[in-house]
Amino acid sequence: MSPSDCQKRLSGKSGLISGGARGIGAAIAEVLAASGAAVMVTDVLEDLGKAVVERIRESGGQARFHRLDVTDESQWATAVSETIESFGGLDFVVNNAGVELIELVVDTDFEKWCRLQDVNSDGVFLGTKHAIRAMKPGGAAGKGGAIVNLSSVGGLVGSFATSAYSSSKGLVRTFTKAAAVECGNLRYGIRVNSVHPGMIRTPMIEEFFNRFVELGLFGTTQEAEAATVAAHPIGYVGEPEDVAHAVAYLVSSESRFMTGAELVLDGGYTAQ
Ligand SMILES: NC(=O)c1ccc[n+]([C@@H]2O[C@H](COP(=O)([O-])OP(=O)(O)OC[C@H]3O[C@@H](n4cnc5c(N)ncnc54)[C@H](O)[C@@H]3O)[C@@H](O)[C@H]2O)c1
Repeated sequence: MSPSDCQKRLSGKSGLISGGARGIGAAIAEVLAASGAAVMVTDVLEDLGKAVVERIRESGGQARFHRLDVTDESQWATAVSETIESFGGLDFVVNNAGVELIELVVDTDFEKWCRLQDVNSDGVFLGTKHAIRAMKPGGAAGKGGAIVNLSSVGGLVGSFATSAYSSSKGLVRTFTKAAAVECGNLRYGIRVNSVHPGMIRTPMIEEFFNRFVELGLFGTTQEAEAATVAAHPIGYVGEPEDVAHAVAYLVSSESRFMTGAELVLDGGYTAQ
């Protein structure tokens, strides 16, 4: 696709990305903005989030930063209103913010379990709820749109020491389907899909590798990384842009017949 085709793909669209300050969220913000969309980058990490906005503006894109903790419903209402006020509409919301916890079931602290579910599950519910409110006919934006929820291969299959994370991502998968059916049946003009990345090179996976070593699963982070790569038949882990391009497709009209679907980007991890 040439840069000018790219420019046309999302021009005139605007929306919000949660957890957009770094990793996959930052790449989503940059790719959507490069494809012509106006993006509201949100996160609890203000300095990093503002730096993403700066980079987008320097390359000629349209972006703003808004501080949003996805676990706080009143902050969601404000962030959605702010996006509509800033850009004149709301065509997409990408529920990307997430945290991980690498722990054996028997050692998992209940408070840490709940905190993870607050962000990964409740945060996606709240983001989807407020996106639908604004996008549905009669809502503050009112023109329909696309919601993309970040699940994971962890939402499809289990893996060692990831019970809290996997269960939260499993919820995202089926919640997304339920929301898609509802929006479809009610003719809201809103599509809701989930994406399921395998290992993607971000700050989050560095924490995975360190934790695997702490748990004694591997001697070094290099060994943890080598084993992770080996679990992906394609022979490498993904980059944040690999996910971002899939999200660009899901928020574009090219995917107009796709809703309630799970888009897997995992180098063959779940194909075995
Ligand atoms: N990296 C991977 O291998 C991988 C694989 C599958 C799925 N995912 C999912 O992709 C998403 C992004 O992951 P990443 O690897 O970029 O992680 P990351 O840790 O690099 O970035 C996550 C972002 O979410 C933000 N965040 C955390 N809690 C928040 C809260 N309460 N409110 C608002 N923002 C909050 C963080 O500040 C951070 O900027 C997550 O949902 C993750 O579970 C990642």
